[in-house]
Amino acid sequence: SKGAALVTAVAQRLASRRRQVDETLSPFRLSQEQLQLVKTRMRTGLEAGLKSKGPSTIKMLPSFVYRTPDGTERGKYLALDLGGTNFRALLVNFKKGLQQNTRLYHKIYTIPLEIMQGSGEELFDHIAQCVSDFLDYMGMKNAHLPAGFTFSFPCEQTSIDTGTLVSWTKGFKATDCEGHDVVSMLRDAIKRRNEFDLDIVAVVNDTVGTMMSCAYEDPECEIGLIAGTGTNVCYMEDLKNIEKAEQKTEKMEREEGTPEGGEKKLDDGTKREKKVGDAEIPKMCINTEWGGLGDDGSLNDIITPYDIEVDQNSLNPGKQRFEKLTSGMYLGEVVRQVLLDLTRGGLLFKGHVTEALKTPGIFQTKYLSQIESDRLALLQVRSILQQMGLDSTCDDSIIVKEVCGAVSRRAAVLCGAGMAAVVDKIRENRGLDHLNITVGVDGALYKLHPHFAEVLQETARVLAPQCNVTFLPSEEGSGKGAALITAVARQKL
Ligand code: GLC
Repeated sequence: SKGAALVTAVAQRLASRRRQVDETLSPFRLSQEQLQLVKTRMRTGLEAGLKSKGPSTIKMLPSFVYRTPDGTERGKYLALDLGGTNFRALLVNFKKGLQQNTRLYHKIYTIPLEIMQGSGEELFDHIAQCVSDFLDYMGMKNAHLPAGFTFSFPCEQTSIDTGTLVSWTKGFKATDCEGHDVVSMLRDAIKRRNEFDLDIVAVVNDTVGTMMSCAYEDPECEIGLIAGTGTNVCYMEDLKNIEKAEQKTEKMEREEGTPEGGEKKLDDGTKREKKVGDAEIPKMCINTEWGGLGDDGSLNDIITPYDIEVDQNSLNPGKQRFEKLTSGMYLGEVVRQVLLDLTRGGLLFKGHVTEALKTPGIFQTKYLSQIESDRLALLQVRSILQQMGLDSTCDDSIIVKEVCGAVSRRAAVLCGAGMAAVVDKIRENRGLDHLNITVGVDGALYKLHPHFAEVLQETARVLAPQCNVTFLPSEEGSGKGAALITAVARQKL
C-alpha cells in the first residue's frame, strides 16, 4: 500500500541520516590503540623537551619552584592573575593554624578584546590600573605588598621573578610582548602610574599555582592540570633530568643545599609527613606546555578536517594543536564546524546555513556544558540553541547533543592519555611499581562540564594502570598558589 511505502521511505531516510551522522562523528571516537599512541607521543615529547636546549614542541619550561608548600607559610600577599578571559586581583592572608585560616579577598576585571589584542604597553597599563583599583578597594595603597604574578602563557624563566614570554596562546595577541620579560613590563607599567609600589617576587604559570594550592592541603599533590580556556600540565621533575637547568642545579646545590626531608612540626602543633626517601631528591616544577603536542605534525593521524578549519581560523595557526583538541576556547568552534558540515549536507537545520551558525565563537563552553547535561530535556536543548539564534527541530537537537558529546569526550580522553604519560614518567623516575599521586585541577571545562572529569579520570586509570591518580579540584587555585609561591620564595631570602 501507499501508506506502507511512505513509512518505509521515511524509515530509510532516517536510517541514512543516522548513518551519515555516525560517519561524520566516527573520527572523533578514538580507540584504545590510538590513545595508547597519544600517550607514547606525549611521553616522547616530554623527554625531548627536557633534553632540548632549543625550541621543542613541548617546551618543558623550568619554573624555579623547588618544593611544594609545607604549611608553614604565613603572611599577606597580593596575587595578580592574567590568563583566561579575566584579570583577577587577590589578597591572600595565610595565618597560623593552616588552611582554615586562609583569608582571601578578590576582584575580577574583564579584559576588553581590543586590549587583549592591542599593544603590550596598553595591556600592562590596563593591568596596573586594575591593581590600583583593587588596592583602593582594599584600602592598601601604601602597604607595599609582596606580589605573585600568575601569567598563564609560556614563559622562559631564568629565576623565580623573571619570565620572557615565548609566544602568546589562547585569545591574546598584544604586540611587543613576545621575547620580553613580563615582570619588567608590569613593573614599568606600575612605575608609569607613579602611584603605588609593589614587590613582585614571583611569576607563575597557572598550572604551577594550581599544584601549589592543592599541595597546601595534600602533600601527595605533585601535578597541576588546567582544563579551561587552554589546557596545560606541570609536575615535579627530578632536577637531574632537567638538562637545560643543569648549570642552575649545580649552583642551587652549592648555595642552598638539597631540600630537607623528614617531618616538620608546624606551629599549630600538627605534623605533616614528608615522604621520606623521595624528599631528598632535589626537584623542580616543570611547566610542560603540553598544548604544543602535535605542532610537528605528530597528531595528524587523529586530526579531523574540522580541527584543521579551527586551527586555520585561530590567532596562532599551526600552533598548540593538542590544546585545540582539548580546551574550552576551541571545543565550541570544533562543534560549530561539524554542525556547518552536517547542515551543508542537508542533515541538520533543514539544510539552512544561517548567519548565527556562521558566527565564530557562538558555541561557548558554557553552552556545551549545558547541552550535555543529562538532566536536560530535549526541549531545553532546543531553547539553548534558540538563545544562540539556532532554530532546531527535536531531531536536530538530538544530533547537536551527539556532536557536543563526541567533541568533548575526545577532549577528555586525550587529556587522560596525556596524564597517563605524565604519571608513568614520575613513577619511573622514582623506580616504583606503583605510584599514588594527586593532581590539582582547575579550569571551567573540568569543573563545569558534566562528563569531562569522569572520562579524564577513567582514561588515565586505564592507560596508567600502575598509578593511582587522584584528581583534586583547586579552590582559587592559581591565585592562592601564586601567593604561596611568593611566600615560599620569601622564606628563602
Ligand atoms: C595555555 C598556555 C599555558 C596555560 C594554559 C592554561 O596553554 O600556554 O601557559 O597554562 O593555557 O591556562
